[in-house]
Amino acid sequence: MSPGDAQEPLLSVRHLSKHFPVRSRGFLQKAAGTICVVNDLSFDLHPGETLGLVGESGSGKTTVARCILRALTPTAGEVWFRTNGRRVDLARLSDRALKPLRPAMQLIFQDPYSSLNPRMTVSQIVGEPLIIHQLAKGAELDDRVADMLLKIGLKPEHRTRYPHAFSGGQRQRIGIARALIMRPSLVVADEAVSALDVSVQAQVLNLLKDLQEEFKLTCIFVAHNLDVIRHVCDRVAVMYAGRIVELGTTAALFKDPRHPYTRALHSAVPRPDPDQRMNFEIIGEAADPGSLPSGCAFHPRCPQCFAPCQQHRPELKPAIGEAAGQTGDHLVACHLNDEACPKETQ
Ligand SMILES: Nc1ncnc2c1ncn2[C@@H]1O[C@H](COP(=O)(O)OP(=O)(O)O)[C@@H](O)[C@H]1O
Ligand code: SF4
Ligand SMILES: [Mg+2]
Repeated sequence: MSPGDAQEPLLSVRHLSKHFPVRSRGFLQKAAGTICVVNDLSFDLHPGETLGLVGESGSGKTTVARCILRALTPTAGEVWFRTNGRRVDLARLSDRALKPLRPAMQLIFQDPYSSLNPRMTVSQIVGEPLIIHQLAKGAELDDRVADMLLKIGLKPEHRTRYPHAFSGGQRQRIGIARALIMRPSLVVADEAVSALDVSVQAQVLNLLKDLQEEFKLTCIFVAHNLDVIRHVCDRVAVMYAGRIVELGTTAALFKDPRHPYTRALHSAVPRPDPDQRMNFEIIGEAADPGSLPSGCAFHPRCPQCFAPCQQHRPELKPAIGEAAGQTGDHLVACHLNDEACPKETQ
């Protein structure tokens, strides 16, 4: 395939893992081993596609996002990124080699309140990345900032105001403008609307959707709430305890969720019609990466747990019973999805 082929992924994550050192509690806080927070993650992201990364707090989503953007160095694995017709493994690049690639990979922050410098005007905030990377100055800089502010729905007179003059939703729009003005090929939005009221969330999500189409953005959209990602993501990866437990198209994950954890996430979403709720609620505490349960990490919380679940960790495999030709689009890590796994002990 040629480097420009739309079928070739923009991003290929392979066997990504991240360990953090654990410190002892004493005064000296000596290193006392490591915890594995992201474990053997693999997925592709195609140009123009938006992948949702969903899971409870602590499941490792932010760590994955930060490893991909190389705000953290992965412990193991590869992060292949296509840029200027070649593929580079971001996991292995030096800071110096990463620097020219940084404009192409942008993060939209979670917190629109703390992520904007209160002493800078909106124009300065949005234009600053272009100045830092020496991509525009003078009249061109002004034009690009004005154009970007228009696209995110701010008026020209807003340009000279400071962040405190804006609502949470408007500040998040300013954060989005600051990321998109770099014309990135990859955007990672980490809980980008979680801090906003539900009605404002919908407005910002709609704006993101419009901008995705206009800029042909390729995005990773991190959220702990399945409903939030529904209208912006093409595919969804559900994470539990540092691993992907289900990966599929948004339609498949909403119409035919296979993993008990995905189903529990659905039922955890408050719905106006109680009949729409799935058959069980999510129970118990999320797994602690410092002391993961044996076998399937979800087994202490899983209402469908059966004997093999406590001993053997399920692999991510194509969902059984998928329509021909779709095999591989929908992957599930659950013994219930493994025809070879004896179910008589259920
Ligand atoms: N720098 C760090 N050192 C030690 N543990 C960390 C560090 N960063 C995150 N963790 C732990 O990694 C786990 C996953 O965190 P995170 O990636 O932030 O999850 P999420 O974004 O899904 O809430 C959590 O248990 C968190 O406490
Ligand atoms: S492998 Fe077993 S415990 Fe884990 S989700 Fe599937 S049924 Fe539940
Ligand atoms: Mg997070």
